[in-house]
Amino acid sequence: MSETLTFLGIESSCDDTAAAVVRQSGSGAAEILSSVVQGQTSLHAAFGGVVPEIAARAHAERIDLCVEQALAEAGLPLTALNGIAVTAGPGLIGGVLSGVMCAKGLAAATGLPLVGVNHLAGHALTPRLTDAIAYPYVMLLVSGGHCQFLRVDAADRFTRLGGSIDDAPGEAFDKVAKILGLPQPGGPEVQRAAETGDARRIALPRPLLDRPGYDLSFSGLKTAVLRARDALLTPEGGLHRQNRADLCAAFQLAVADVLAEKSRRVLADHPVTTLAVAGGVAANSLIRARLEALCASTGTRFLAPPMALCTDNAAMIAWAGIERFRLTGADDMTLSARPRWPLDQTSPALLGSGKKGAKA
Ligand code: KG4
Ligand code: ZN
Repeated sequence: MSETLTFLGIESSCDDTAAAVVRQSGSGAAEILSSVVQGQTSLHAAFGGVVPEIAARAHAERIDLCVEQALAEAGLPLTALNGIAVTAGPGLIGGVLSGVMCAKGLAAATGLPLVGVNHLAGHALTPRLTDAIAYPYVMLLVSGGHCQFLRVDAADRFTRLGGSIDDAPGEAFDKVAKILGLPQPGGPEVQRAAETGDARRIALPRPLLDRPGYDLSFSGLKTAVLRARDALLTPEGGLHRQNRADLCAAFQLAVADVLAEKSRRVLADHPVTTLAVAGGVAANSLIRARLEALCASTGTRFLAPPMALCTDNAAMIAWAGIERFRLTGADDMTLSARPRWPLDQTSPALLGSGKKGAKA
């Protein structure tokens, strides 16, 4: 099947409502005709995390407007599409339901094929959307809600090599920011504060480096920052600017060290041509530099898609829908929303669930 396919993608699994139109001409390169993302950060700001009920309501209110805008920006009517792809999980169930109901309504009204996409497959297939890379490759997904190494062999063949057994790294950056009195989202704030810090002054653990394999853990690291902070508090309960900067630098270095070492092990055991990253934490310049250096030393290509496609968006869902449709065809109207949906059905289920929903 190599005819030109134009798909609408719909994403609503966390705190971004998104719609996009993507076209692939034959088996050639893909083109993003539009990509609309409406964030909800301000709606959840007062609560220190995403509130599922608020997210679900906001998705339901905005989703058709996002779809209209995506079609308008692409300059296409619904009838010009070849299919509708929607995130069917994993994620916050109310939000996923909003997207699935919207997609089903559109499919029922137009008769267009409906394709349910795993959100993580959307992230994992993004390097093929942006750079048309060949299988197999390894994807490191590091965001506020996800943390895993995936070996991608085909649009329906993912092997979860390892991942966080507790918090996702972005979640840890956000919690550390909170502990140190910095605003949310914490990642960029911690990175900024770390610039003037001494990363070696405060010793923090490197969780799970003493154990074989590719699993990671960030929860204990966050607690270690809390303890180190308490030891540095002034009698009035304050924290000197330099101490805060040193704590940020030490934490960031610890995260970069473990991600780089686990990535080294993954590449040693799975010699692929490309290591791709996705997720908000991939924006961190130290982490990025460490992964780049690792790839340079192993002759592996390092690929970081543009930030707007690394974080949650619907273009990746439309693209994953096109790939899946070419491979296995459409779903029917029994498609349901799934809060948990491991990409790799053979790997054991993970414990816990991040502030942004199931880590699958
Ligand atoms: O992929 P993303 O936008 O959203 C989801 O998690 O779904 O990732 C957001 C996460 C937040 O936890 C944020 O603190 C983190 O990515 N982040 C960073 C940086 N920029 C964003 N973490 C470390 N360093 C950064 N520069
Ligand atoms: Zn995501």
